[in-house]
Amino acid sequence: MKIAIINGPNLNLLGTREPGIYGSQSFEQYFAELHKHFPEVVFSYFQSNIEGELVNELQRVGFEYDGIVLNPAAYTHTSVAIGDAIAAIKTAVIEVHISNVHAREDFRKLSHVSGKSVGCITGLGLKGYELAVQWLIDNHATKHA
Ligand code: DQA
Repeated sequence: MKIAIINGPNLNLLGTREPGIYGSQSFEQYFAELHKHFPEVVFSYFQSNIEGELVNELQRVGFEYDGIVLNPAAYTHTSVAIGDAIAAIKTAVIEVHISNVHAREDFRKLSHVSGKSVGCITGLGLKGYELAVQWLIDNHATKHA
């Protein structure tokens, strides 16, 4: 089973970025744990600070992979292009946020991604990625209608 993890802007700074909100673990450290937890899964990992690169990656994996775990970070709240890309591809997308976006500033309550995704996990820390992967395994090859 092939699962793509895609992280948006500033998530390359996890571990040092606002640790009170996002924790003190880097994504690389967490990703190593994820590999150990799901040895049967073939993971790809892509992070970009650039909106169009995230769209390109969604299109690249979106017709071939079995699932996508996407944290679009700040683009969640602004990017019609990322929402459109999710609607255009075949692979199921789970939206993940480390922090609880609904308990923060009002502008974080708008998502261009949630309505196009199979589901959304928000506020459970990095554990949200693991829960999303488990869901994709349990619902193998669930695709958009
Ligand atoms: C985030 C929440 C977003 O509002 C924010 O812009 C991020 C990270 C999260 O994982 O909690 O960069 O997606």
